[in-house]
Amino acid sequence: EQPELFEIYGRVALSGKPERFEVYSETFGGWLFITVYSTEKGYFIAVFDNITLRKQRERKLQAISSLSVALRSAVARADQFPIILEQMMASLNVEGALLVMLDPSSGGPVVELGQGGWKDLTGRLVPPGEGVIGRVMSTGRSYLGDTALIDPHLFSQEMIEKVREISCIPLIAEKQTIGALMAGWKTEAKKEDVQLLEAIGEIAAISLHRLTLHAQALRHVQHLSALHDIDVAISSSLDMRVTLKVLLGHVTKELDADAAAVLLLNQHTQVLTYAAGHGFRTLGIEQTRIRLGEGCSGRAALERRIISIPDAVTGHNMCPHVYMLKGEGFISHHVAPLIVKGKVKGVLEILNRSSLVPDREWMDFFEALAGQTAIAIDNASLFQDLQHANDELFLAYDATIEGWSRAMDLRDKETEGHSLRVTDLALTIARAMGFREDDLVHVRRGALLHDIGKMGVPDNILLKPGKLTDEEWVIMRKHPVFAYNLLSPIEFLQTALDIPYYHHEKWDGTGYPQGLKGEQIPLAARIFSLVDVWDALGSDRPYRPAWPKEKMIQYIKDQTGKDFDPKVADIFLKQVGGA
Ligand code: C2E
Ligand code: SIN
Ligand code: SIN
Ligand code: FE
Ligand code: FE
Repeated sequence: EQPELFEIYGRVALSGKPERFEVYSETFGGWLFITVYSTEKGYFIAVFDNITLRKQRERKLQAISSLSVALRSAVARADQFPIILEQMMASLNVEGALLVMLDPSSGGPVVELGQGGWKDLTGRLVPPGEGVIGRVMSTGRSYLGDTALIDPHLFSQEMIEKVREISCIPLIAEKQTIGALMAGWKTEAKKEDVQLLEAIGEIAAISLHRLTLHAQALRHVQHLSALHDIDVAISSSLDMRVTLKVLLGHVTKELDADAAAVLLLNQHTQVLTYAAGHGFRTLGIEQTRIRLGEGCSGRAALERRIISIPDAVTGHNMCPHVYMLKGEGFISHHVAPLIVKGKVKGVLEILNRSSLVPDREWMDFFEALAGQTAIAIDNASLFQDLQHANDELFLAYDATIEGWSRAMDLRDKETEGHSLRVTDLALTIARAMGFREDDLVHVRRGALLHDIGKMGVPDNILLKPGKLTDEEWVIMRKHPVFAYNLLSPIEFLQTALDIPYYHHEKWDGTGYPQGLKGEQIPLAARIFSLVDVWDALGSDRPYRPAWPKEKMIQYIKDQTGKDFDPKVADIFLKQVGGA
């Protein structure tokens, strides 16, 4: 039995001799020890205070308080491991000490640190549910006893022989077993040491849990801020390549990936091809072509779930396209499907050159990032579809405009081809005058439609072989207004109205329908009126034959400053070789 410690509390001397010599020993509540003993002079009753427990308590308090202080200074979870074990070694008289924690990646128990005779066990995996440690962790109940149940996979014969008794206690935080402490003694374990081990365990569990939560909170904040950055990237750029680039930068950083790629699924061919990548050493990934259902990526897309190859050192379980990425050296591969509104649009690939065994949190974040990627792709393709739809609409409009324009020329047989010719010439002059490509679209449409208003002029006037009467001129001069009435309800032709409406205005203000003067007349119309007269004079009309070129040039020169803007005329004459 372990020796107890006593401190004398008081004593009473009695004279004479006791009739019977007797020694009493009595413990009251574990505190007092009374003895009666005799000497030659008489006998005594002595009362001793049993301070064993008090001393134990003091030792325990001291161990706990120094452990608490030391743990409080730890910043990272792993900094706490040596602090806990050193306290065990210092206060428990142990031969060996172990700290086992649940491994964040595998989820199974792993020896985070060993001390004393068990130093070499650091880093070893503990078979879950087996041996002393496995059982303590799965049941949450401590063990005290000999080494019969010690895990032989973990402890060498030599290690086992060095200890006689072991104690293993679970580390419990918020009702969850997060790890275990194990101590081994050369001799039988003292009750007080086992109690102290339990106290150390309680403090250690709280502290380890606190820093784990802290680290988790930090990671969550970091993840949230990454997700936010991605959100900003998605909403500020409609260019999918830019968005995916930003996104894959975050993905590799936050998921500890060496490389990441987005493959998009062609809905017609059902083949996944490269869209964006980050962290690759070679260009091989860009050649990727994977059929739906083929390899990890094809399966992730087909089965709509994450496919994980944490470690493919031998290459036999590596999917062929990753294996083909020569010079990259990937051995770990994780693929998430990108699903938008129920449709698989592609996959997000995570590739590592070392093994990556994901934990729950990693998987959750991988899923979140795949969701973001899907949204980015959806946004970009919505924009693309819209652009596509717009492009198609524009093509349809332009076909319609050209159709109207041709119909007009057909009606006015003698002017056939006039519309296309004046359009080409007007564009040439407008370009020479510095029009931007965007504005040229409007010039083109306006020119094609310039005489659309003649649709409202009856055949007997339009096709009349001779001069027009005053009444006929009234109707003929309405053709720009007819054009305005016809075209202005059409939204996308608003900007093309200048030419049909103002092409008979004159620089000196004598034109129609508004009588605008100088720069009041839109520039496109000033250009066009010159081009229109030029082409009319060069063509046969029902009312006169075509003019020779010299006469046309002379006419333009004569009318410059009257009918025509001098600046436009200057550039025009250079273009047609009349300057
Ligand atoms: P258009 O034939 O396309 O002619 C456009 C413009 O070119 C005319 O606008 C006019 O400024 C000029 N132009 C055309 N032919 C001559 C010409 O022989 N001499 C001169 N100096 N300028 C010419 P304008 O005058 O406002 O006429 C608008 C439209 O009215 C013409 O378009 C044409 O369709 C019609 N038109 C004009 N004059 C006659 C005519 O004598 N008989 C008939 N049937 N139609 C006419
Ligand atoms: C892309 O840049 O790949 C698509 C975005 C777009 O041009 O609409
Ligand atoms: C944009 O960001 O608006 C341009 C889209 C594109 O890249 O095609
Ligand atoms: Fe006209
Ligand atoms: Fe014309």
